[in-house]
Amino acid sequence: MAFLDKHKAIETHATLLLVLSFLVVTIGGLVQIVPLFYIENTIEKVEGVRPYTPLEMAGKDIYVREGCYVCHSQMIRPMRDEVERYGHYSLAAESMYDRPFQWGSKRTGPDLARVGGRYSDEWHQDHFRNPQSVVPESVMPKYAFLFRTPIDGKYIAETLSTNAIFGVPYSSEMIAAAQADFAAQANPDADTDGLFARYGDKVNVRNFDGQPALTEADALIAYMQVLGTMVDFSTFTPDPMR
Ligand code: HEC
Repeated sequence: MAFLDKHKAIETHATLLLVLSFLVVTIGGLVQIVPLFYIENTIEKVEGVRPYTPLEMAGKDIYVREGCYVCHSQMIRPMRDEVERYGHYSLAAESMYDRPFQWGSKRTGPDLARVGGRYSDEWHQDHFRNPQSVVPESVMPKYAFLFRTPIDGKYIAETLSTNAIFGVPYSSEMIAAAQADFAAQANPDADTDGLFARYGDKVNVRNFDGQPALTEADALIAYMQVLGTMVDFSTFTPDPMR
């Protein structure tokens, strides 16, 4: 065929092949990238997704500091085995306020994207103190020291304002009230009206670590208990255009 003869000229001419390959890759790249400049947001807005409360944010930082992501992912893929085990597949919007994202690339332990509400606080307390006490075959390390490490949220306002710089919608009011909200969430007797007004009335307010003092375990368990619970999947319908 005449057409194939011409192709031979390209295949046997290194420079021509290089130039034409470059052109093809450039067009392909532009087709994929340019539309992204013209749409405002690549993430579908989903009702219920909100920035973390100050206490949950501190818990997320402890999660990152302790390297929990080395053994745990936070992304449920849309495949049947995953959805049956962990629940609805993860939506992009659910991790839009995670900086850095916690999708992870390794599962020594289970995915944690929807662990919120799956276990009681008491279960988490036992599990963090000594994972083998509740799951005898567990290889997860002990984190008992978290229950002995007090925190006061001294720098939590700075953490929130740094996240705000990167686009997480923390208002100046949220930042100003950060330390108060931080303490209020772990204290069932506190005045939590402001906390609910700022973050919604679904926020969990409890003594998460089961001890009088406010410790790192409060923050980490508050973070565990919110994971995957912000979106109400009984009413959620995905946008078919995305
Ligand atoms: C060396 C790997 C390893 C590290 C590091 C690790 N885990 Fe785990 N984790 C596991 C394994 C394995 C399991 C499953 C057995 C069990 O429940 O203990 C697990 C289970 C869990 C569960 C229960 C999940 C479920 O659905 O049953 C939670 C919650 C959890 N880990 C949180 C954490 C947090 C938070 C950290 C960091 C402070 C952490 N893990 C660090 C390995 C790890």
